[in-house]
Amino acid sequence: MLLRGAPSFSASWFVDFDWPFADMIEFINVSKAFGSKVVLKGFNLKVNEGDTVSLVGFSGSGKSISLKKIVGLIAPDEGTIRVDGLDVQSLNRHELYELRRNVGFVFQFAALFDSMTIAENLAMGLLKAGGYTEDAIRERIEESLRLVELEGFGPRLPSELSGGQKKRAGLARAIAFRPKYLLYDEPTSGLDPVTTAVIDRLILRMRDELGVTSIVVTHDMRSAERISNRIAMLYDGRILEEGTPEELFRSTNPIVRGFVDGRPELVEQGNRELQGLSPDGSMP
Ligand SMILES: Nc1ncnc2c1ncn2[C@@H]1O[C@H](COP(=O)(O)OP(=O)(O)OP(=O)(O)O)[C@@H](O)[C@H]1O
Ligand SMILES: [Mg+2]
Repeated sequence: MLLRGAPSFSASWFVDFDWPFADMIEFINVSKAFGSKVVLKGFNLKVNEGDTVSLVGFSGSGKSISLKKIVGLIAPDEGTIRVDGLDVQSLNRHELYELRRNVGFVFQFAALFDSMTIAENLAMGLLKAGGYTEDAIRERIEESLRLVELEGFGPRLPSELSGGQKKRAGLARAIAFRPKYLLYDEPTSGLDPVTTAVIDRLILRMRDELGVTSIVVTHDMRSAERISNRIAMLYDGRILEEGTPEELFRSTNPIVRGFVDGRPELVEQGNRELQGLSPDGSMP
């Protein structure tokens, strides 16, 4: 359990009992608007232990804000996000901190501190958390860099790394706490196909060697097919379709087909159907 034994957890009764929720991340009827722009409207998604779920969708559909809600960076207007049964919105500061150690976040643009070396970037969270000796921190950094195939890169500055290496360094930082969950926001965007395949292999490695459960936000359907056991497509504020990669690739939903095949005319057709209009746009 994520927070089992956390000393200041208010519902301490569950430390001694079996927590009745399975290990999972769950979005329940989540809605979110920014001003008059409604981004999520009754968004539901379950990610079970061991899953690697790719969350796909058009630019601006709300993928990044969905990930940020899991670690309490953005609050929903309505609905609940549960991690291992705990409502993220109800956590106090200490519990939220504990949650963030267990849910590693690989940011869309790596988000490394430019003036610090890669090792310092990785060490920062561990130092802040306390309880690690200098040797333990050094060991953890070396192991994390080895896992992302960046051995020996600790003394370098982020500016000395390529785009793909920066993404890997961001991943190394996210795994420094050995989290139970990993959230990847566009881990391969802007990378060439070979570097993309390297990152995909690392995502699989995190699953196999660290046993993490992941959500991967991506536009890249080939990546999604390689790395995930399930794909969920976010559209118009909710999950339009989810299933195995094979199921998504065989979908007959015109919007899913349009997204998978890059065919805007199918998306337009699907939109008309969603609005209850006939294929030519007139009322049926
Ligand atoms: N802090 C904010 N204030 C106002 N609007 C926001 C904020 N964060 C996100 N939005 C809006 O919410 C919508 C969803 O944003 P989000 O970043 O989640 O999209 P996305 O699906 O990740 O897109 P992309 O694929 O381009 O990264 C966008 O229209 C965006 O402009
Ligand atoms: Mg995004």
